[in-house]
Amino acid sequence: MAPNLNSVKNLFVFLGKSVFALLEVMVFTFIPRPQKSVAGEIVLITGSGSGLGRLLALKFARLGSVLVLWDVSKEGNEETSKMAWEAGATKVYTYTCDCSRKEEVYRVADQVKKEVGDVSILINNAGIVTGKKFLDCPDELMEKSIDVNFKAHLWTYKAFLPAMIANDHGHLVCISSSAGLIGVNGLADYCATKFAAFGFAESVFMETFAKKQNGVKTTIVCPFFINTGMFDGCTTGRTRNC
Ligand SMILES: NC(=O)c1ccc[n+]([C@@H]2O[C@H](COP(=O)([O-])OP(=O)(O)OC[C@H]3O[C@@H](n4cnc5c(N)ncnc54)[C@H](O)[C@@H]3O)[C@@H](O)[C@H]2O)c1
Repeated sequence: MAPNLNSVKNLFVFLGKSVFALLEVMVFTFIPRPQKSVAGEIVLITGSGSGLGRLLALKFARLGSVLVLWDVSKEGNEETSKMAWEAGATKVYTYTCDCSRKEEVYRVADQVKKEVGDVSILINNAGIVTGKKFLDCPDELMEKSIDVNFKAHLWTYKAFLPAMIANDHGHLVCISSSAGLIGVNGLADYCATKFAAFGFAESVFMETFAKKQNGVKTTIVCPFFINTGMFDGCTTGRTRNC
């Protein structure tokens, strides 16, 4: 059988790129990468009213970014805003937004575009966990998980990605989870949403890469357990943020 030259060529390109990626990782383990400046960038963080979202807001405040804070909890978000001002933020805009509701995402996104400008860093962080065994978990809670942890990412991308492409400048950040890489006992619906968020972000990255929209970057973060209180009720079957 005649060898398929195209397949052989693709294999060599794949192997070459893999070796290059490995070497890159080895080099940057010893030499720190130059860090991107985020001063002046318009950074939208969903779920900024507590936990990781709040910590991210404080970090970006110290780095001189314009903060756009979205949370379903007005109280939590205002507390984050207060802390961000104290941390040295120069511009903070807070919006109460339930990211699980498509129309609300689009409405608040339009408001942000008018009042603040084009979002250049979008951090999809809002999340909930039902913390119940699959058969014990009510359908509506599982649907809510999917709406917040995954579908919200579709609506925020639809709202903000076009301007990033037009400006050839933007960064999409998906807060998935280690539970988006491997299944976990008692977190079936949560894992499914985190796998979905990961797959979606990676696929859109592939699309932008294929279209040479190189100004739009993607980062997918898969943290292991961090004690923010999010998983407090899981062992007892209690739910939080639902
Ligand atoms: N804490 C961990 O161990 C851990 C590990 C891996 C991944 N994560 C992920 O990190 C993200 C943040 O988690 P956390 O630990 O900071 O949780 P958290 O409960 O402290 O914060 C989540 C925030 O999202 C907000 N939120 C919930 N539903 C919303 C909605 N419909 N619209 C807008 N905002 C909404 C909540 O009000 C809250 O402020 C989540 O996506 C979570 O899945 C957390």
